[in-house]
Amino acid sequence: MEKKWWQEAVVYQIYCKSFLDTNGDGIGDLKGVLQKLDYIKELGANCIWFNPLYVSPQVDNGYDIADYKNIDPAYGTLDDFKKVLEEAHKRGIRILMDMVLNHTSDEHKWFTESRKSKDNKYRDYYIWRPGKNGKEPNNWGNYFFERNGSAWEYDGRTDEYYLHQYSYKMPDLNWECEALREEMYSMMRWWLDMGVDGFRLDVINILKKPAGLPDSKAVPTLTNTKNGYIVDRTTTANVEGIHELLKEINRNVFSKYDIMTVGEISTLKGMETLPFFAQDSHEIDTVFVFGVANRDEVPASPKKIKEFQALLLSMAKRNAWVTQFLNNHDQPRQVSRFGNDTEHRERSAKTLATMIHTLVGTPFIYQGEEIGMTNVCYPSINDYNDRYTVGRYDALTKNGMSPEKALAKLRPISRDNARSPFQWNDRENAGFTSGKPWIKVGDRYKEINAEKDLSSPDSIYKYYKDLISLRKTHPAIVDGLTEFVDFENENVISYTRTTSRETLLVIANFSDKTVEFDIGNELASFKWKTLLANYSDTAAVPEKTEWRPWESAVYSLEF
Ligand code: GLC
Ligand code: CA
Repeated sequence: MEKKWWQEAVVYQIYCKSFLDTNGDGIGDLKGVLQKLDYIKELGANCIWFNPLYVSPQVDNGYDIADYKNIDPAYGTLDDFKKVLEEAHKRGIRILMDMVLNHTSDEHKWFTESRKSKDNKYRDYYIWRPGKNGKEPNNWGNYFFERNGSAWEYDGRTDEYYLHQYSYKMPDLNWECEALREEMYSMMRWWLDMGVDGFRLDVINILKKPAGLPDSKAVPTLTNTKNGYIVDRTTTANVEGIHELLKEINRNVFSKYDIMTVGEISTLKGMETLPFFAQDSHEIDTVFVFGVANRDEVPASPKKIKEFQALLLSMAKRNAWVTQFLNNHDQPRQVSRFGNDTEHRERSAKTLATMIHTLVGTPFIYQGEEIGMTNVCYPSINDYNDRYTVGRYDALTKNGMSPEKALAKLRPISRDNARSPFQWNDRENAGFTSGKPWIKVGDRYKEINAEKDLSSPDSIYKYYKDLISLRKTHPAIVDGLTEFVDFENENVISYTRTTSRETLLVIANFSDKTVEFDIGNELASFKWKTLLANYSDTAAVPEKTEWRPWESAVYSLEF
């Protein structure tokens, strides 16, 4: 496979709303990003993925787009964006935009037109159906459990329902409509012609709807149902025709540029994901396979993480480039979820990063991860902003769970864990804003903040920096073959990365205890040099056999 720039990239994800506010309105903005480009450059990341910056009523923090070709005034202007693009490019940093193709805001002009009459020019841009026996067209539920739970909203003006798989303020688009497709293609080309370097494609596997919009046959459970309406991606996602559609988008847009496209595919778990991004399918370059990172899964053991990595590896062997991440704006903080955010916060944050940055695939860093930001723990449901958390709370309590239990269940998985303001320093509002932040600052900012990490020689930030620079000096991290060492081990994740010129060995203790680890006779017969470790006195293998809590190291073979 010919090497592409995005295989060597390290992507830094910016949730602008919570990054840095420069005008005191409590909302992060592009001027804030501009101020921090050097912070990102210094870290070594060379690509930024922006969560949606477009004009939006902010029902779902920008995933509800009202104008695809402008920037939300809360973030700045289109000129501010162009300035960020230019300054980023000057620093060798590329920019990916979040592209939301499945739905718009109900305040988008297409929708305000579409709902006016059945013969409106834009009627067909959305999915309208008459009711069935005075009820919704089918039993699909909306993902945010809004209103009565249905994915259909009745509109009296034309006596029909429109489909919305998310909020009723986010109507699904109709990709069967050719005029809509053309409009989308030209909009995407407009951004690419401006110079953006690619897209993160939101919920890309649900664009195509199943023929006839059949009822879901899934078994209703406490967590997928409200009033009998079921959220069920096995019915609504990855349906026949999705691959033809993605190939068409690729032909009309992506293939014409040297860009990176990364698709969000949240429900597929195994090799069935491959057709979306295998190199010869000409659809998207790479995807986020959620696996253990899916917040609804039980927190994964080291063994499960390894099995998941083995799956990614087998995809990579089949010429499909993968991504490495354990959190993003929809997931809890990785150090809280997979590491130990109390006693071993720094060490475990570094160990998680060691794996992400030395296994095959493009690593993604979610803002704040590089300083080990942790989950928030807001006292009341009213402190939560995320529609998913609030809607789910409502559904759980309606399904009979006590409010305390529902809050306790949602706290560790709430999307707001990732959305609390970036902790820049230990001053008021963690230095995020001089005003009132749109969402509460996490209460550990005095202990966990960027200023502190930047001034300490062995901080998490510094460790990320070192890891990223290893990627630049050791091609085996990008190109090497991967072989696991003692795959069955319950606590340690270990592997080699090999090219004809070098071999790296990574050993990482993913547990709170000291464990024995044996690299086996063959590897022990070589001489290894320590490249990076998260304890200052980590010895070299093969002499070293005891691994302290969350201890990890990267070695290289000495010829
Ligand atoms: C994706 C986004 C999420 C959003 C949803 C609807 O999953 O990552 O934040 O709520 O799509 O656009
Ligand atoms: Ca602002």
